[in-house]
Amino acid sequence: KKVVLAYSGGLDTSIILKWLQEEKGCEVVTFTADLGQGEELEPARRKAEAAGVKEIFIDDLREEFVRDFVFPMFRANALYEGLYLLGTSIARPLISKRQIEIAHQVGADAVCHGATGKGNDQVRFELAYYALDPEIKVIAPWREWDLNSRNKLIEYAEKHDIEIAKDKRGEAPFSVDANLLHTSSEGKVLEDPYQEAPEFIYQRTVSPEDAPDKATFIEVGFERGDAVSIDGVDMSPATILTKLNELGGANGIGRLDLLENRYVGMKSRGVYETPGGTILLMAHRGIEQITMDKGASHLKDELMPKYAELIYNGYWYSPEREMLQAAIDKSQELVTGSVRLKLYKGNVDIVGRKSPYSLYSQEHVTFEEDDVYDQADAGGFIKINALRLRLLKARDRKAGKN
Ligand code: ARG
Ligand code: SIN
Repeated sequence: KKVVLAYSGGLDTSIILKWLQEEKGCEVVTFTADLGQGEELEPARRKAEAAGVKEIFIDDLREEFVRDFVFPMFRANALYEGLYLLGTSIARPLISKRQIEIAHQVGADAVCHGATGKGNDQVRFELAYYALDPEIKVIAPWREWDLNSRNKLIEYAEKHDIEIAKDKRGEAPFSVDANLLHTSSEGKVLEDPYQEAPEFIYQRTVSPEDAPDKATFIEVGFERGDAVSIDGVDMSPATILTKLNELGGANGIGRLDLLENRYVGMKSRGVYETPGGTILLMAHRGIEQITMDKGASHLKDELMPKYAELIYNGYWYSPEREMLQAAIDKSQELVTGSVRLKLYKGNVDIVGRKSPYSLYSQEHVTFEEDDVYDQADAGGFIKINALRLRLLKARDRKAGKN
C-alpha cells in the first residue's frame, strides 16, 4: 500500500511515518508544504530520507496560499465567533488539495494526516480529501493507534531512534501550527482558560507594552478587494502578507486569546498571533467603507458568519461556500483604492481612505451649505417610517397596555 503523508518533520508526524511503515506495512511518500511557517524545510527532507522514504515532496505554496485562499477569505472580512481570523482553518484545504494531487501523481491510494481525533483539523483534511477524490482512502493514526499519551509517543520515538526536540521531551508546552497568516498555540499551560498565557507562548509579535512609543503609518493599496501594494510599491500577495506581518509583529498587533467552539462539540482555548492579517482586515474594512454600497455591505456582513463557519468546519470545497464566494467576489468589483493606517502598541487604526470609485459625497454630507440635498424631504421620510410605530402606540393605549 502506498500512502501520501502530510509531513511537517515534527515529532508527531515523524512517529506517524515510522508507524505507517512498521505497523501498517505502507510505502510512505512524504509531502511537506511551505506555507510560510518560518521553519527550515530541509530537516524534513533529511528525516524522511533517513526513514527510507524514496519520494519526498517539498513544495513552496506561499503564493498560492495567499492568492487563492487567504485573499478570497479576506474579501469576506471573515471572523469565526467574532474574533478568530481562521489562520489554521484556511490552510488545510490547500494542503489537502496538493496531497491528493501527489497521490494521483505517484499512484498512491491513501493519504494520511497527523490531526487528532478530537479536533477540527481531522475534519478539514478529510472533508477536502473526499471532496476532491471520492475513492481516496484516509488513514488517521490518532484515531487508530494506542499511542494516546505523550509518554507512549516519546517511548515509541526513542525505540525507533526518532529525534525528539528538547521542549517535547519534558513539558511539551503546547501544540503549535504556523503559516504566513498566523501562529496558533494550544494545550498544556493554556488548558486552564482562567490563567493568562505566559509571554513565552508568543512567537511572532512583541507585547504591546514593548512596542515602539512612536506610531508607524502605512498605506495599503487595493484592487477588486485584494491588497496589491504597500506605500505605493506593488507586491505579490505573499510578499504583502509577509511585509504586513513584520509591521504588525513589531507593533504588537494581532494577539488573540480565545475560547472557541470546536466543530466536534467541545470548547478549546487557543492563543493566536495574526499580525499581518489583523492589519489587512482593518485595511479591507477601510476600503469597503468608501467604495461599497450600504445594501451590499450590510448583506455581506450578514453572510459573513455563515461563510466563516463553513471555513472553520472544513467546507471549503462545498457548493455552499462557492455560492457565497461568488456573491462576495461580485461585491468586490470596485473595491479599489487605498487606505492609510496607524500602527501603534497593539492597535491598528484607519486614519484615511480614498478611491477612484468613492461613493462618499462630501457635497451631500457637509454641515456647510449645499444645493444637492433638500432637508425638508427628510420630514416625509421619517413620517412614513414612523407610521406603524404611531398606529401601534395608539392601539396599545386603547387596549390599556402601556
Ligand atoms: N483551533 C484552531 C482551529 O481550529 C487552531 C488549530 C490548530 N491546529 C493544530 N494542529 N495545532 O483552527
Ligand atoms: C488537533 O486536534 O490535531 C489539533 C486541534 C484541532 O484540530 O482542532
